[in-house]
This record gives sequence, C-alpha cells and structure tokens, in this order.
Amino acid sequence: MKKRLIVAAVLIAPFAATGAYANEDALLDEARQVAMSLPPRLMVSLQEEIGRSGIGGAIPVCKEMAPKMAGEISKQTGWQIRRVSLKTRNESRATPDAWEKTALEEFDQRAAAGEQPSKLEKGAQVGTEYRYLKALPVQTLCLGCHGLPDQLTPEVKAALRQNYPGDQATGYTEGQIRGAISVRKRLP
Ligand code: HEC
Repeated sequence: MKKRLIVAAVLIAPFAATGAYANEDALLDEARQVAMSLPPRLMVSLQEEIGRSGIGGAIPVCKEMAPKMAGEISKQTGWQIRRVSLKTRNESRATPDAWEKTALEEFDQRAAAGEQPSKLEKGAQVGTEYRYLKALPVQTLCLGCHGLPDQLTPEVKAALRQNYPGDQATGYTEGQIRGAISVRKRLP
C-alpha cells in the first residue's frame, strides 16, 4: 500500500512542476529578488549620508541615488524598477498606474486587517508582462523625512518645500505603508 503511494507521488511530481504555475513561481521569485535588491542598498547610502551631513543633507540620496540605483538594477537584470506611492513626494516619478494603485490600496486594506506590512507583496501576469509590487513600510529612519511635522527639522522642511512644492509624503507613523517597489518585465 505504502509502496503504491510512493510510486504515485513519483509519477505525479514531475507534472506538478511543469506548466504555467511553475513558470509563474519562477517569475515571482525573480521579481521578488530584483525588488528586494534596492532597499538595502538605499538604506546603506541613506545611513552613511545622514552620518556625514545630517538628515537634511541626505535628501539627495533619495532624490538622485534612488533612481540611479534603480537604473543600474534595470540594466543588470532586464526588469524595470521604480518606487510608487499613493501619496507622492515626486509626482512625476512615483505616480502609480492603475495596476499599481489597486495593489497599493489592497496593501493598505490588508495591513489594516492585521497583516504584517513588511510581508505584503503582489505578483501577477498582466497582459504581456509580469508585474510585482513589494510594500515599503515606514521605519524609524524614514520619519526624519516622512514623519509628522514635529519630527522634521526646519532644514528638512525647507529643503522639501524647495524641491517638492506638491509634497504629500509627510505625516506618516512607523509601520504605515509609505509606498512600494514596483518591478515589471515583458514576457518572451
Ligand atoms: C533624508 C530624507 C529621506 C529619508 C530618511 C527617507 N526618504 Fe523617502 N524620499 C525622500 C525624498 C527626497 C524622496 C523623493 C525622491 C525623488 O525625487 O524621486 C523620497 C521618496 C520616497 C519614495 C518614492 C515615492 C514618492 O513619494 O516620491 C518612497 C517609496 C520612499 N521615499 C520611502 C521611504 C522609506 C520607506 C524610507 C525609510 C526606510 C525613506 N523613504 C526615508 C526623502 C527621504
């Protein structure tokens, strides 16, 4: 009896691993790795620059380094990568499209229902592309530039006013979802 079960499992296993699902799993894994490669690099640069020139002095890291790093990752991996948010600081770069907007709204709902923000992600084949979104929760480090008004230094406030007159990205508290990393790739 036991033997028969094992034989059946061995016969079925190869079929379970083929077809559309296996392919989607591989794409999800790849997209996840691409998306996760940006935040740690950004965090290191942010921390270094805050140490060197203070929180206000680190604004260029987010303004110039983040898109530069995203561009490098795109070149290395073939995936397009950017950051999006429902409350943008840089409207021209970070305004979500319809798919991203829906996913971001779902993240907020899922977080409100008790899911851990750092675990929120969504991957799907959308038309001729594979798309993936990974939530970026607010951590202590983020508050100096995205926190409540009394957490922002006068220098940061002035720099934000000057660089981002339409800034919507303050007033966050720890654990809220600030936005997401969005990656996409055309399927062959
Ligand atoms: C030193 C200030 C600073 C810190 C600290 C900081 N940010 Fe930002 N953040 C910015 C600036 C400036 C931009 C706009 C970048 C641009 O022009 O593309 C930005 C943009 C973003 C965006 C892109 C969407 C948008 O609104 O334009 C996300 C997402 C984001 N930040 C998340 C975070 C998270 C999460 C943390 C903490 C881990 C963090 N930031 C820490 C200054 C900061």
